[in-house]
Amino acid sequence: MIPTSSPVEPFDYVVFGATGDLTMRKLLPALYYRFCEGQMPADARVIGAARSELSDESFRERARDALNRFVKQADLKADVLGRFLDCIFYVSVNGAESESSWGNLTRLFGADDRARIRVFYLATSPGLYGRICANLAAKELVSERSRVVLEKPIGHDLASARQINDEVGAVFTEKQVFRIDHYLGKETVQNLIALRFANPVFERLWSADAIEHVQITAAETVGVEGRGAYYDHSGALRDMIQNHLLQVMCLVAMEPPGSLEADSVRNEKLKVLRALKPIRAHDVATLAIRGQYGRGRIADSIVPGYLEELGEGRQSDTETFVALKAEVHSWRWGKVPFYLRSGKRLPAKLSEIVVQFKETPWSIFPSKLQANRLTIRLQPEEGIQLSIMSKDPGPDGMVLRPANIDISFEKAFSARYPDAYERLLMDTVRGDPVLFMRRDEVEAAWTWVEPILEGWSRDPATLNHYGAGTWGPQAAQRLIEADGHRWHEDLR
Ligand code: BG6
Repeated sequence: MIPTSSPVEPFDYVVFGATGDLTMRKLLPALYYRFCEGQMPADARVIGAARSELSDESFRERARDALNRFVKQADLKADVLGRFLDCIFYVSVNGAESESSWGNLTRLFGADDRARIRVFYLATSPGLYGRICANLAAKELVSERSRVVLEKPIGHDLASARQINDEVGAVFTEKQVFRIDHYLGKETVQNLIALRFANPVFERLWSADAIEHVQITAAETVGVEGRGAYYDHSGALRDMIQNHLLQVMCLVAMEPPGSLEADSVRNEKLKVLRALKPIRAHDVATLAIRGQYGRGRIADSIVPGYLEELGEGRQSDTETFVALKAEVHSWRWGKVPFYLRSGKRLPAKLSEIVVQFKETPWSIFPSKLQANRLTIRLQPEEGIQLSIMSKDPGPDGMVLRPANIDISFEKAFSARYPDAYERLLMDTVRGDPVLFMRRDEVEAAWTWVEPILEGWSRDPATLNHYGAGTWGPQAAQRLIEADGHRWHEDLR
């Protein structure tokens, strides 16, 4: 993998859906930070594309407001901000229609620009991806040096994912397609590869021989944040598990790749997805728990329930919480359970991987021993923690208690941890796909997820309820306790 700050060639970065939340909240701040670190060449251009009629100046004003909101004040320097805004342009174009508004973009590119790197970032509704790509091709805007970036979700199910992949694939080769999953851009997720394959101390133990189970949690305190229209159509399984959590799980469970080449890593991830034991529709009540939050308290505030957030009188059986038990059927993993869990309006914002090791086969100590546990924190405060048993200092003999070896990466390396998008956007310019999902991975993930969706839709009683500010429905406790385990927060 290439270091984050390696230089990139001059580029045009065209963002479709430029006036949307993702552009303002994530993409522009990420590009700003790369600009500050000198990684964006002076003549690189960021081109916002959307239907609204805006001038360059008014789009720059929106960008300025967004940067003021989403970049730390200490990192905003007026002169740098001014220079960054000068690199931003805007074209009014209806990406889904083949009419004349495309001329605005064609003119901006100019005739002799085909050797320059062009990235088309599609931050629109996925239903438009195919048409935008077809229009890019029809207007002859795609060259060998062009790439397309697809935001998730890639489809709503396997059939729609295939359709999108076919339509995009009719214009761009697989090498030019970058399916983004921002969890793969998180430093600690990438560090998983380093942790596993640069430290034999872990890899030697990384199997059913020593590991009892694995928990992967992505918990959020926020609700649907004004994204109700999208979220209600999606739900937590499609929004978080099908992509982010399965991808993280792949990196935990995969075999050592032959190299860090994209296909080498992606082949191993694909094998994990294909080795997942299917959760059949009739197993969902015990293996795939879903829940929806009601009104509750988080920190000191009372927060509304999901239906209240959607709007008065709305009914919905969309899940805002999922906890499920997966198994990777392979020699390495045997029947080791991987518990995946994600939910909104939980008590804390955290993403972590907990690797629970097995107990000692025999104990010579009077104290009860706690099995070793490795916690890999993706957020907040990226780091790792290894719990070990240690002798309690003092004259009372061999009294043992758990203690932690704790590394906070930010403190250890005294470095700013870049947002995932910073790394990923520059990778799209460099054309390095290692941290992006290949078509077959996306489709394998949908293949595994679909029977769960089907089981839930067959049986409305599988929708559990939980109060905002709790760790999800009781059924999620039963899921893990049935195997004699407990969720990490109950072990602390
Ligand atoms: C997005 C989901 O992909 O990830 C959101 O669509 C979710 O619903 C977000 O809030 C969580 O990302 P992070 O990086 O804050 O854990």
